[in-house]
Amino acid sequence: MSDLVIEGHDAAGLRAMREPVLAVYRQVYADQLGDPFRTPERFWERLDAYASRDGFGMVCGHVAGEMVGFALGYPLPARSRWWEALRGEYEGDQAFTREDGTRTFAFNELMTVPAWRGRGFAHALHDALLADRSEQRATLLTRPDNEPAHSAYLRWGWRIVGTMQPFPDSPIFDAFVLDLP
Ligand SMILES: CC(C)(COP(=O)(O)OP(=O)(O)OC[C@H]1O[C@@H](n2cnc3c(N)ncnc32)[C@H](O)[C@@H]1OP(=O)(O)O)[C@@H](O)C(=O)NCCC(=O)NCCS
Repeated sequence: MSDLVIEGHDAAGLRAMREPVLAVYRQVYADQLGDPFRTPERFWERLDAYASRDGFGMVCGHVAGEMVGFALGYPLPARSRWWEALRGEYEGDQAFTREDGTRTFAFNELMTVPAWRGRGFAHALHDALLADRSEQRATLLTRPDNEPAHSAYLRWGWRIVGTMQPFPDSPIFDAFVLDLP
């Protein structure tokens, strides 16, 4: 764990790191890059859109100068359409889904390259990204069959609030929420 160096970045920092970020992505999703939703180009389009949001934040982890993982997200803006795709208990629940620009941090991505897994790096990146956030809660999406991530999020205090399919060609994800201190 002592080998991991974590740095925080804004949108300009992300854009300056396009190549190392996509190098991490290609390793992590190597077996899915043929899926139109998973191509590096589509991934970068999504990151670029997240990075254009006010309050965007990112942390990346390096070992001996090489990027081994990152986490990033942005606060949902007032009147965000994020929750429109929510199905389940809170579907259409105005009190739960109302956003004012300061309530919810959308935790968009967390990944570490296979060679450096199982060392607590993802947990450290997760905690570092959320440590300085001023929002009341965070939300994220994970596939129900993504066992390592799904079970880790439940152990780290997140709870499932429903399912979501945010893009027509995306998987159906479980939607999680974590109350922030
Ligand atoms: C999910 C992922 C980020 C975990 O990365 P990691 O660096 O191995 O994570 P950590 O070492 O911090 O371990 C995370 C937790 O998973 C557990 N874990 C690690 N590998 C595991 C495995 N193969 N199976 C089950 N649990 C596992 C650890 O015990 C840890 O739990 P704890 O903090 O309660 O002890 C990584 O597998 C990954 O990048 N996956 C692909 C992208 C992805 O699915 N991201 C999350 C969804 S957006």
